[in-house]
Amino acid sequence: MLQAAPRHALRVDIRHLAPTDLSHIQRALPPEHPEAHVRRLADQRAGRVTYLIAWNGSLAIGHVLVRWGGTANPELLWLLSPRNQTPYIEALFVREAYRSLGVGTALLAAAEDLAAAGGHRKIGLAAAVENWRARDLYERLGYRDNDVGPFTSGWTYIDERGDEISESESCVYMTRPLNGGLRQPNALRVGCH
Ligand SMILES: CC(C)(COP(=O)(O)OP(=O)(O)OC[C@H]1O[C@@H](n2cnc3c(N)ncnc32)[C@H](O)[C@@H]1OP(=O)(O)O)[C@@H](O)C(=O)NCCC(=O)NCCS
Repeated sequence: MLQAAPRHALRVDIRHLAPTDLSHIQRALPPEHPEAHVRRLADQRAGRVTYLIAWNGSLAIGHVLVRWGGTANPELLWLLSPRNQTPYIEALFVREAYRSLGVGTALLAAAEDLAAAGGHRKIGLAAAVENWRARDLYERLGYRDNDVGPFTSGWTYIDERGDEISESESCVYMTRPLNGGLRQPNALRVGCH
């Protein structure tokens, strides 16, 4: 377990999603699609991803996912190269009441430290062109636009009538080098549940 030290002395523990925490996560961090957490847990079991959850005591307050084989987005893969396997960050989210306290930064640091510990030299993510606040955060943390051009990122959710709706947004691909070594050596203690 990583004990991060975000701003304002909020205590945050970051660890892999354990199957026993699934029902809590479904309630505390309602996913955009009811299957989203379940799919991510299954991908984690298969070794394709690591799904990190931030906890404040017994309350889950945020999450981030690292896809170890690189992006699964076909449009981005085409722009990069089908062989690109740079670990890819997805599903960064913090509960609204806990935002701007450093939790998002702590989740990204935990993901980056895991990738560095695995011998990776670089990590990437998609930033929505219109989400300038998120892009500001990534740039402050050392991520830079790779200039591969905008690409479309899509997702689905269930609306109030129970219909599955597809949406998409235009994104840019940003990466950050990991050659600075581990920022938080405790991340090595993040164990797989
Ligand atoms: C983006 C997000 C994960 C940041 O988490 P966080 O815990 O607030 O992050 P930190 O406290 O470490 O850093 C705060 C910075 O994040 C960015 N940020 C804050 N609220 C944000 C929001 N609602 N949307 C986007 N970015 C936001 C700002 O740059 C902010 O800096 P500021 O407090 O000086 O304005 C969080 O705001 C969130 O879950 N947003 C909704 C989902 C999202 O936009 N995900 C990113 C997809 S590209």
